[in-house]
Amino acid sequence: MDCAGRSIGGWPTKSGGLAFNSRMQKLLLLGRGQIGSALAQSLTDFEVHVWPNDIDDLSREAIETIGPDAIINAAGRTDLAWCEANANETVRSNLEAPVRLYERILAHNRDRADTIRFIHFSSGCVWDGPYNDRGEPFGPYDPPTPACLYSWTKAAADSMLLSIDATQVAVLRPRQVYSSSPMARNTLVKLTKYPRLIGTPNSMTSITTIEKMVQHTLLSEEWTGIWNVYDQGVVTPFEVGQMLAQAGLRDEPQQLTKAELDQFHRPKRVDAVLYDARFEAAIAPPEIRAELARIIGSMR
Ligand SMILES: NC(=O)c1ccc[n+]([C@@H]2O[C@H](COP(=O)([O-])OP(=O)(O)OC[C@H]3O[C@@H](n4cnc5c(N)ncnc54)[C@H](OP(=O)(O)O)[C@@H]3O)[C@@H](O)[C@H]2O)c1
Repeated sequence: MDCAGRSIGGWPTKSGGLAFNSRMQKLLLLGRGQIGSALAQSLTDFEVHVWPNDIDDLSREAIETIGPDAIINAAGRTDLAWCEANANETVRSNLEAPVRLYERILAHNRDRADTIRFIHFSSGCVWDGPYNDRGEPFGPYDPPTPACLYSWTKAAADSMLLSIDATQVAVLRPRQVYSSSPMARNTLVKLTKYPRLIGTPNSMTSITTIEKMVQHTLLSEEWTGIWNVYDQGVVTPFEVGQMLAQAGLRDEPQQLTKAELDQFHRPKRVDAVLYDARFEAAIAPPEIRAELARIIGSMR
């Protein structure tokens, strides 16, 4: 319990004990899109402050005034075609502004007794797979192989954050995020719209899994570095389209080959299958088909 009597809980560790940070109470959340709005609703054990302005406007003074124990960056430019057409703004929002914010957090941590954790959302789209050179799922420290400007900015931000100081930051890499939300950014909503879908293997990440991972980074003592964040197992967009059709949420999809898609899709769509033993031990993510069935069932 915290001093206000609210349960702040803990997260079971591999050894079975509870490694948790009992002082963690106040969060500052950036980004009010798919992930940010879900986190603002679900992190009810904390006092959550949502930053309504630009990342670059979050000054050191504003940070001191709010006094967060952790800053979560779920802000960024995420429309891949828009990013290609607006390169300067994409580089500023996805790379420069998060790095500048982290430098302000590190300056705070050097000067004050209380340290602020930085939880930064990256993406599984930093890889162009579906598998790495060895034919295996991408591990968190496999070298990125970005295929478009958006992915370059995400990979570059991760690299800079970790090279400035790897001890105060967690980099989370989800892939094809989905939930029961009607938001256009929801991968399931996107997969109701395309008549033809590809059959390439991919990882997907439910919002519930993201919420568990964020809780882990807030409460555990073993929280820094890169984390791949995904539901267990592999699924194809075509299979998900079939599940949506069976639920009456779309017509039966038709098959499209990746080669056909690559001829007209700009920028190139990437496929990526993720793996991370540390993440699986910490979170025990749900099996992807069972989780999809549960979420699609609630959309019906
Ligand atoms: N959703 C996915 O499938 C997925 C997968 C992997 C990784 N991610 C990563 O997760 C993070 C959040 O994704 P999301 O799906 O929630 O994206 P989203 O729905 O597009 O939301 C992004 C939010 O960031 C805001 N934003 C953009 N630039 C900003 C800036 N300079 N200062 C302050 N706010 C800014 C946007 O505001 P406006 O709407 O006003 O532009 C929007 O509220 C992103 O870093 C993304 O790369 C997402």
